Amino acid sequence: MIEHDIAKVVSERYARAAATGEQMCCSTGYNFDDLKAFIPQEVLNISYGCGTPVGLETVRIGETVLDIGSGGGIDCFEASRRVGPTGRVIGIDMTDTMLAIARRNAPVVAANLGHATPTVEFRKGMAEAMPVEDGSVDLIISNCVINLASDKRKVFREMYRVLRPGGRFTISDIVSDQPVPNYLRHDTEKWGNCLSGALQVGEYVGGMVDAGFRGIHQMNVMPWQKIDGIHFLSVTLTGYKFPQRVPIAWSPAMGGEPNGVRFATLLGPFSVATDELGQTYRRGRPQPVTAHTAQLLSALPFQRLFLLSESPVALEPSDARWLAVLPEQAPCVWKGDYAIFTGPFAEVEDDDHHAFRRGSPLEICSKTLKVLESDLYRPHFAMINRAAGEISGSQVVCSPSGGCC
Ligand SMILES: C[S@@+](CC[C@H](N)C(=O)[O-])C[C@H]1O[C@@H](n2cnc3c(N)ncnc32)[C@H](O)[C@@H]1O
Repeated sequence: MIEHDIAKVVSERYARAAATGEQMCCSTGYNFDDLKAFIPQEVLNISYGCGTPVGLETVRIGETVLDIGSGGGIDCFEASRRVGPTGRVIGIDMTDTMLAIARRNAPVVAANLGHATPTVEFRKGMAEAMPVEDGSVDLIISNCVINLASDKRKVFREMYRVLRPGGRFTISDIVSDQPVPNYLRHDTEKWGNCLSGALQVGEYVGGMVDAGFRGIHQMNVMPWQKIDGIHFLSVTLTGYKFPQRVPIAWSPAMGGEPNGVRFATLLGPFSVATDELGQTYRRGRPQPVTAHTAQLLSALPFQRLFLLSESPVALEPSDARWLAVLPEQAPCVWKGDYAIFTGPFAEVEDDDHHAFRRGSPLEICSKTLKVLESDLYRPHFAMINRAAGEISGSQVVCSPSGGCC
């Protein structure tokens, strides 16, 4: 399919859905009872997202939020509640029927929220060429849209352009565990249903890194659908646009406090980690860092994983700050489980020298599965099982020291 064909097919698909109020799968995680209090039912009926824009929890009063592919406006209206009357929300969408519904409900929502005038504006436009000024947005959100775009890299570059330095995004979208084959990519129905246009996790995040985003990490992940052995996942990702130069007068609102930081010590749970700037850290060993790296490591979720200091601080395993999860000393079984590392690093190792590259599924045994399901590791991985429970694996005796195969 060529670019304009994709946009036409997708737009017709969603115009039809909006006009009929068609119910499309699946759950977003939104609390509709809460939203019902100020968002009209007509909007809630055409909520076609695939996640909850968790980023909205980080929104501050008065911020400017941009929603890419705003549809009937559900996420924009929730954002308008959170930014308050001094904030601003811009929704862009290419489909007239969606825009008409969103626009006619904007004054209703404003009145329900007690705002004198609507703070939400809906603009017609493409995600690949957004009608938004450079550097004007604090937070970008998007809910199940970028998978539908024909050129995702263009969308990521546009996101980077419109965000202000120090801005961030939180987007929910569909990704796959392996490349989507041509017979599915040319299935217009499945493209419109947020499947055929999905990118592999690694390609998706790689496009964001190439656009300039850093610190990309997972806020949430859930299974979506499985077709012909391909796992489609709904993932919610956050990432940052950092200022090109670290300002002398740094403020917490800019995303951290790099002043005075000269060294970073990895606390764990990874034994080794390489960041998106190519720097490698070994747990417990202080590593000299530049102002740029200090800026990156001051942001969430890095700040929970590092000790940042002015002079070098080495840690021993006995230190209470040392983070590690070791496999239990028991035989393991291979059951078809795969772990997909989602960030915030480019590459990490666990304590058994399993090397996880962001976005690349790695087959893991039952012992490693247990390690990765622990609280310290879980936020960084998506898990899939490719055996669908049909494996009758036999036990493998791992190393006598208790390490894992
Ligand atoms: C699956 S719906 C999601 C709508 C909304 N985010 C929600 O959660 O209900 C996808 C929306 O994105 C819009 N869309 C898809 N591709 C687009 C593109 N390339 N540029 C602009 N809008 C697009 C569609 O018109 C549709 O309204």
